[in-house]
Amino acid sequence: MEYRHLGKTGIQLSELSFGSWITFHTQADVKAAADMMSAVYDAGVNFFDNAESYAGGKSEEVMGAALKQLGWRRGSYLVSTKIYWGLNGGVNEHNTLNRKRLIEGINGSLERFQLDYVDLLYCHRSDKTTPIEETVWSMHNIIEWGKALYWGTSEWDAAEIVAAIEIAERHHLHKPVTEQPRYNLFERNRFSREYERVYKEYGYGATTFSPLSSGLLTGKYSQGIPADSRGALEGFDWLHDRLTDKGKLAKVQALEPIAKELNCTLSQLALAWCLKNPFVSTVITGASRVEQVHENMKAANVAPKLTPEILERVDGIFEVKKEEEDD
Ligand SMILES: NC(=O)c1ccc[n+]([C@@H]2O[C@H](COP(=O)([O-])OP(=O)(O)OC[C@H]3O[C@@H](n4cnc5c(N)ncnc54)[C@H](OP(=O)(O)O)[C@@H]3O)[C@@H](O)[C@H]2O)c1
Repeated sequence: MEYRHLGKTGIQLSELSFGSWITFHTQADVKAAADMMSAVYDAGVNFFDNAESYAGGKSEEVMGAALKQLGWRRGSYLVSTKIYWGLNGGVNEHNTLNRKRLIEGINGSLERFQLDYVDLLYCHRSDKTTPIEETVWSMHNIIEWGKALYWGTSEWDAAEIVAAIEIAERHHLHKPVTEQPRYNLFERNRFSREYERVYKEYGYGATTFSPLSSGLLTGKYSQGIPADSRGALEGFDWLHDRLTDKGKLAKVQALEPIAKELNCTLSQLALAWCLKNPFVSTVITGASRVEQVHENMKAANVAPKLTPEILERVDGIFEVKKEEEDD
């Protein structure tokens, strides 16, 4: 496992990391979560991603209980959470990044985790109604109080990120240091086109999510939705169209000969492709069971095999013109 600086900060993250969306509480109890966390930690992972909204707060509870069981040195790993949607429907309690929500949010998360601080705190989406200045000041205060060490954004517009950085610089506040964007073979354009300027000019980090497009890139949806997959979970019907899209499945199938040549699985190839982007600080992986973890962690060994010629063939399948990636 290699470690990469989070943008231009001093902190280093394992190039593959591990997140709990959909899985913790819904598919994995504390024991299953601890087993998976232990497997990734043994492979060198030092960053665990979470959010207050995952499983209505239960995902943080499960991760916190697993961390307690595992008993690792606090200095040896990083934990994140994200605030925005909230857990309650009150007017100031959901879909906002106002000061009250952020401060109550971090306090609630720390309680559920049973931790004194999180390493990274994200604004899970942008809030078009709260002044960015109010959000920046609140995140700065949370860091000053020692409840988080760094802060970042998730799926903000590039212009909003730049505005937040500039407000922080103007007032000598803690700046946001990383974005958490979606990035995989199917969904790469925002990362490459919109955000690249923020990575290049501001040294912003990128902790990318959904590298397997919810499992579509593993190839397991080629014969329909397997009963033991995310696609079959109650309440996730909204994923069905994406997971059974014939055009997308044909592209996944076209990747198979390349995976075979490289002696790896489709999942490993798709994860390794994400790792090849130098602006990626870490690829946040997800898994519902330990076998997937073992398979996915080996992607780190596949990345060096992705030569420019292989990458061109992969891009050919996913129909992204070379110049779009280069400029
Ligand atoms: N900031 C945001 O808004 C945001 C949004 C989404 C995710 N995230 C973060 O990113 C993390 C990863 O996202 P994701 O879970 O969507 O990642 P993903 O890699 O796209 O999908 C992971 C899912 O694919 C299946 N899978 C993984 N490896 C497999 C393998 N080797 N073989 C077969 N199936 C496999 C598993 O689901 P099944 O076994 O159930 O099919 C697993 O839970 C999340 O946990 C979260 O921390 C952040």
